[in-house]
Amino acid sequence: MTGVASDYALASATSIGVGGSARELWTPADVDELCDVVGRLRGRDPFFLGGGCNTLFPDGAFERPVVTTDRLRQLDIHTSDDSTGGVRVRAEAGVRLDGMVRATLESGLEGFEHLVGIPGTVGGAIVMNAGGKGGSFGERVVEVGIVSLASGELERRLGSEIPWRYRSWGLEGYAVAWAEFELRRGDVAELRRRAKETFHAKNRVQPLAHASAGCIFKNPPGDSAGALIDRSGLKGLRRGGAMVSEQHANFIVNIDGTASAADVLELIAIVRDRVQEQSGVRLEPEIVIAEASTTTAADA
Ligand code: EPU
Repeated sequence: MTGVASDYALASATSIGVGGSARELWTPADVDELCDVVGRLRGRDPFFLGGGCNTLFPDGAFERPVVTTDRLRQLDIHTSDDSTGGVRVRAEAGVRLDGMVRATLESGLEGFEHLVGIPGTVGGAIVMNAGGKGGSFGERVVEVGIVSLASGELERRLGSEIPWRYRSWGLEGYAVAWAEFELRRGDVAELRRRAKETFHAKNRVQPLAHASAGCIFKNPPGDSAGALIDRSGLKGLRRGGAMVSEQHANFIVNIDGTASAADVLELIAIVRDRVQEQSGVRLEPEIVIAEASTTTAADA
C-alpha cells in the first residue's frame, strides 16, 4: 500500500545528512503505485528522491510532496543468453546501485565494473547519468520505463531515444520506474580484479568515509573542478559544519554532522566566486539543490 508520512526528517534520507523536514513523504511499493501517486500529485510539483546521494534539501519545512522510490527494489537478471551473447538485467528505480553491481559481477557479467563505489539507486543514476572515468550509466541502458508527470501514465523509451548528457539524462517531466540493461558474459576473476582497482583508486582520492553529496560541481570542459578548487587554495575552508574536503576539493563534507543547508550553500557560493576570480571559470553545480518550488511541466 502506498504510504504517506508527514514531517519526515530529510537529513536522514540524504548522504550529506542535511535538510529540514518534508510535509509529505510518499512511498509507493511498486510501479503501479508509483503511477497512482504521480497521478494524484499532478500539478503539485513533487520532488523525486532516490538514494539521496546527490541531493541537498533546504533547512526548515519542505512544502513540495516528496516521493521516494525506496521500495521499488525488484531486480531480475535474465541469464538465458540471446543470440548475441548479451544478458538482460532489469532493475526498478529503487534498486541500490552497489547491490546491483555486486550481483552482476558475481554472476560473471561485464559492463558495470566501472560503477563500483558509486552510491545511490538505479533511478538516481539514470537521472544523473552517473559515471566516472570508465564511462556513464546511460551507455548500458537498453530501455527505460518512465512515468509522465503530466498524465501519471507509464511510457517506455529505448536507451537510444534518451538525450543523455554529461551528468544528466536530458529529460524533464518524467519519473523513472525501471531500467533494462544489456551486459555481456565475462570472467568473474578478471571482473573482480577490475572492480577492486576502481574501488581502490576512488578510495585513495575521495573522502568516502565522510558524509557528503559526492562531487559538488561538474567538471568544466577539458578541466577538473577538483583541481581548480584546489589551486584556488580552498581545501579545508569551513562554514559551520561544512568543509571543503582536504582530500578532494570537489567534495564538501559534513564534518561533524552539524552542517546546515545554509552552510553548504554558502561554501558553494564562495568556491564559485573564488574559482571564477582566479581562473575565469564559472563552475556549475552537479548536485541537485532541491528548490522549495519550481515551474516545471508538472505545474501545468
Ligand atoms: N585534483 C586535484 N585536487 C583535488 C582533486 C583532484 O588536483 O583536490 C586533480 C587530480 O589530481 C586529477 C584531476 O584533478 O589530476 C581529476 O581528479 P579525479 O581523478 O579525482 O577525478 P574527478 O574529475 O575529480 C571524476 C568524477 C567523479 C568520479 C571520478 C572517478 C565529475 C565531476 N567527477 O572526478 O564523480 O568518481 O572522476 O571516476 O565528473 C560524482 O559524480 O559525484 C563523482 C564523484
